[in-house]
Amino acid sequence: MKIDFSGQVAVVTGAGGGIGRAVALALSDIGAKVLLVDLAEEAGLETQAQIESTGKQALFVKADVSDPEQVQHYVNAAMQTWGRIDVFMNNAAWQGEIHSLIDYPVDVFDKVMNINVRGVFLGLKYVLPVMLAQGRGAVVNTASLGSFLATRKLGPYTASKHAVMGLTKTAALEVARKGIRVNAVCPGPVDTDMLRDIEASQASGSAEQLRAQRTASIPDGRYAEPAEVANLMVYLASDLSSHITGQGIQINGGSHY
Ligand SMILES: NC(=O)c1ccc[n+]([C@@H]2O[C@H](COP(=O)([O-])OP(=O)(O)OC[C@H]3O[C@@H](n4cnc5c(N)ncnc54)[C@H](O)[C@@H]3O)[C@@H](O)[C@H]2O)c1
Repeated sequence: MKIDFSGQVAVVTGAGGGIGRAVALALSDIGAKVLLVDLAEEAGLETQAQIESTGKQALFVKADVSDPEQVQHYVNAAMQTWGRIDVFMNNAAWQGEIHSLIDYPVDVFDKVMNINVRGVFLGLKYVLPVMLAQGRGAVVNTASLGSFLATRKLGPYTASKHAVMGLTKTAALEVARKGIRVNAVCPGPVDTDMLRDIEASQASGSAEQLRAQRTASIPDGRYAEPAEVANLMVYLASDLSSHITGQGIQINGGSHY
């Protein structure tokens, strides 16, 4: 079977970042029109330019996923431009800062939760009604290895990614008989700016040494490339995964959690 998203409209949050840009490019490559959402304007516009340079359609909308009005705004932009939303990649997140729980600043905890949990919740709250009206749609939330496993000094991020699984399972149950599937991808380390920032903050020696230690502990010996995670997200958004819903699918080079 061929994966073909011609005529479909996708919304991708965090579309200026590593995984978001990769999945936006992948969806566009197989025919989807893509609405790109990010707070980082330059990065989002760069993704739009990369898609447009291939002759395909994309539109960047600057929005903060943690703000209800801005989430409604990006949903409205997709509807006004293309009239439907078939695929929703609910992907934007922030890793926060690196502190033990007892030292973690309360305002930074709140910011992590606002982007990673409230942002995913708001995306579901405003995109699912569109899909319910269509009687069709697929949502992929970006969860994490951190949905199953704790990392020292990344408590709020870990808690937020556990919460993304709770939202994924709840949403899947609520729309399972309405033609809509909701899943999550749970990547191990992926070679993006987010991971590089985490490594730079965590390393006691050099970030390169830390990276070498970490990749050595991964069965296939390397981090994922963003495009590999994008392939799984596309699969979960496609009819090839028609009986998969409410799941968190791990992609991590062979580890078991
Ligand atoms: N990189 C990894 O190792 C890894 C592993 C597991 C899961 N993830 C998850 O993958 C997803 C994408 O991360 P990435 O690695 O591509 O990181 P990234 O930092 O490259 O991209 C994240 C994007 O989200 C955007 N963003 C942040 N806050 C926002 C907000 N409030 N509103 C709108 N956009 C906002 C950023 O501007 C950025 O472009 C995240 O959910 C992340 O938690 C990443």
